[in-house]
Amino acid sequence: QANLHEGYKLYPLRSNDFERGYLDVLSVLTEVGAHSIDTWNTQFQFMKKHNDTYFTITIMDETTNRVAATGTILIEHKFVHKNGLVGHIEDIAVDSSHQGKKLGIRIIEALKFIGQATGCYKVILDCAIKNIPFYEKCGFSPKESQMAWYI
Ligand code: ACO
Repeated sequence: QANLHEGYKLYPLRSNDFERGYLDVLSVLTEVGAHSIDTWNTQFQFMKKHNDTYFTITIMDETTNRVAATGTILIEHKFVHKNGLVGHIEDIAVDSSHQGKKLGIRIIEALKFIGQATGCYKVILDCAIKNIPFYEKCGFSPKESQMAWYI
């Protein structure tokens, strides 16, 4: 189990993380788009309303009060496996100035814990080939392949 360095703290996503640079951290992943406080609030309130489905966590840099890392687990309800639950890990991002300090592995451990605690029988994710070694260090193994259709 990786411990957080001193000066970092783990939180659920909070409504004022917009001001704490949450979307800037996500931009290491992909295009985030121009948000206003209103577009942020729309999505934040949707996720809050569905807080048994969306679990987003952050690791804060306590010295700057800025978001250093984040990740989400979505809980999917299925008929198979007798109404089984599957956790989908999404949007793992560590701010470039904080990469390599075990924050990524700590985020994944926390999301795996949420997956277990909510009763999922498995937790899965899609990633770039270059990130496979990172997820292997987090206890995941490659399985089948990812497909995408962009609209
Ligand atoms: N290749 C090989 N090993 C790696 C890689 C990599 N790309 N990234 C991390 N590792 C290793 C580290 O060396 C470390 O190994 P050690 O325990 O033997 O020292 C271990 O994995 C844990 O590394 P962390 O320090 O926790 O990694 P970090 O905090 O930098 O987070 C991450 C890794 C999430 C890939 C980060 O670099 C990042 O945000 N990258 C850009 C965005 C991205 O690609 N996100 C993942 C998208 S996939 C998804 O969201 C499901």
